[in-house]
Amino acid sequence: MASGKRGMRKGLTAYGDREFSLFLRKAFIKAMGYSDDALERPIIGITNTYSGFNACHRNVPELIEAVKRGVMLAGGMAVDFPTISLHESFAYPTSMYLRNLMSVDTEEMIRGLPLDAVVLIGGCDKTVPALLMGAASANVPAILMVTGPMITGDYHGERLGACTDCRRLWAKFRAKELGEREINEIEGRLAPSAGTCMVMGTASTMALVTEAMGMMLPGGACIPAVMAERIRNAEASGARAVAIAAERLTPARIMTPAAFENALRMLLAVGGSTNAIVHLTAMAGRLGMRMDLDAFDRMGHRTPVLVDLKPTGQHYMEDLYKAGGATTILRELKPLLNLGAPTVTGKTLGENIDAAPPSFPQQVVRPFGKPVFREGGIAVLRGNLAPGGAIIKQSAMDPKLAHHEGRAVVFESLDDLANRVDDPKLDVRADDVLVLKSAGPKGAPGMPEAGYIPIPRKLARKGVKDMVRISDARMSGTAFGAIVLHVTPESALGGPLALVKNGDRIRLDVPSRRLELRVSAAELKARRKKWKAPPLRAEDSRGYRKLFLGSVTQADRGCDFDFLTAPSRTVIPRKP
Ligand code: FES
Repeated sequence: MASGKRGMRKGLTAYGDREFSLFLRKAFIKAMGYSDDALERPIIGITNTYSGFNACHRNVPELIEAVKRGVMLAGGMAVDFPTISLHESFAYPTSMYLRNLMSVDTEEMIRGLPLDAVVLIGGCDKTVPALLMGAASANVPAILMVTGPMITGDYHGERLGACTDCRRLWAKFRAKELGEREINEIEGRLAPSAGTCMVMGTASTMALVTEAMGMMLPGGACIPAVMAERIRNAEASGARAVAIAAERLTPARIMTPAAFENALRMLLAVGGSTNAIVHLTAMAGRLGMRMDLDAFDRMGHRTPVLVDLKPTGQHYMEDLYKAGGATTILRELKPLLNLGAPTVTGKTLGENIDAAPPSFPQQVVRPFGKPVFREGGIAVLRGNLAPGGAIIKQSAMDPKLAHHEGRAVVFESLDDLANRVDDPKLDVRADDVLVLKSAGPKGAPGMPEAGYIPIPRKLARKGVKDMVRISDARMSGTAFGAIVLHVTPESALGGPLALVKNGDRIRLDVPSRRLELRVSAAELKARRKKWKAPPLRAEDSRGYRKLFLGSVTQADRGCDFDFLTAPSRTVIPRKP
């Protein structure tokens, strides 16, 4: 918006005669059948993230129609355009590997097209952060809406949710508690509708933190994908986009330190996905803010988990929707929030909360004084095994493992894990600590959700449900377990994780936030001297892979590309 030009006059390629460029542009766009009247209106772009591979975005065409209706009712001209679509199961090697590519695609399309504002339609895990990262960098007025969560499935009278129950039931199948016929039947029932995973995975978490941040219309995070209200939310988002175009309400005016602090509170209070801290760090980095993980951890001491949703609790997103959605949570968090933070409504977060329908008795969001878990869901660990930090979802693990010391059983890579974890001869006991290397941002590459290391089959069959597991990988927000993630620096860069050997003692102390490799400094120094960086793979030297490996930052910097971040000016959160 720096040029001050609007609509079709914006971003013209000019070779000395701007009027000729406009004439050419209009000649071509008229081939779409648009009238002069339409082309003189504010132009509102809509990201089309539909893909035949992405069931989480199956309703995007329907939502685009509704956004268009809203834009046109408000006097604008709506035009959709494609971006990359990322689904968790269809983004090899990992969706995280492609998140930054989607953000660059989004940024450059927003910048390259003559848009006065843009409606970002995301949903599946990486799409929301990618869209917001791109929009923050392009800094054109933007409003985000999500496709909405799936409704729950059922099997033999039991409610099922993707993908907490995918993992739980697969673990039962591994332990031979379920047979082939049952698991095949369950496969067809875990994801019964369009929309995103309906537990507190990354998609639900990112939707809720986006609403708390003010980049989404109030109430937008939780409406199930299949409901008529989801379509009306799309229409309202389109109408509001016309207004933010006129007000020039850019992401930089909304995604402030105060807004990120509100988002972090929401993340902690919902027992949200560990992935969200990486995404929020990357989004903040685009706007010159640097995440202080220790301050985030201190924030967690004052922010309890209030939402009783799987995998931390028992309910699902449609239950949270019926309980009032994000507003019910924000109301409980009010004393901790920056209520003056601006939002896409043009009002502050506090004004939005006050304008919402009144509260009513419900079972999903607990009162602040009677939480599900007395601290925030995510804890930040430090120690000689993770000098740059590591995290654990303390609200979704067996509490008996919060203080634990055990013998390391090491897997050198994802292939090594796949080859040996179920070997009956594997020397492993229930009180051991499973360690996975080479699964970080550069090592895997793309930091896959491999941190949920399966319980070795011979232990699973004896009824072992949780073990301490440590890696430089990520984990799906839908997973449960004593799983230490994002160990920084990663092993492929020679971080201390690279030096762990079978039989070493490792101590985890979640209340004290410590993660220690109980090996002497002299021994570690000797091991470091012998350590060699993993050799380059054939595919590492060309294309996007080369760009990724040369530029991706570590988890504590959001795994963004170093050349996409803005110079750091502010540290967040400011007042934990
Ligand atoms: Fe898309 Fe879970 S696979 S949200």
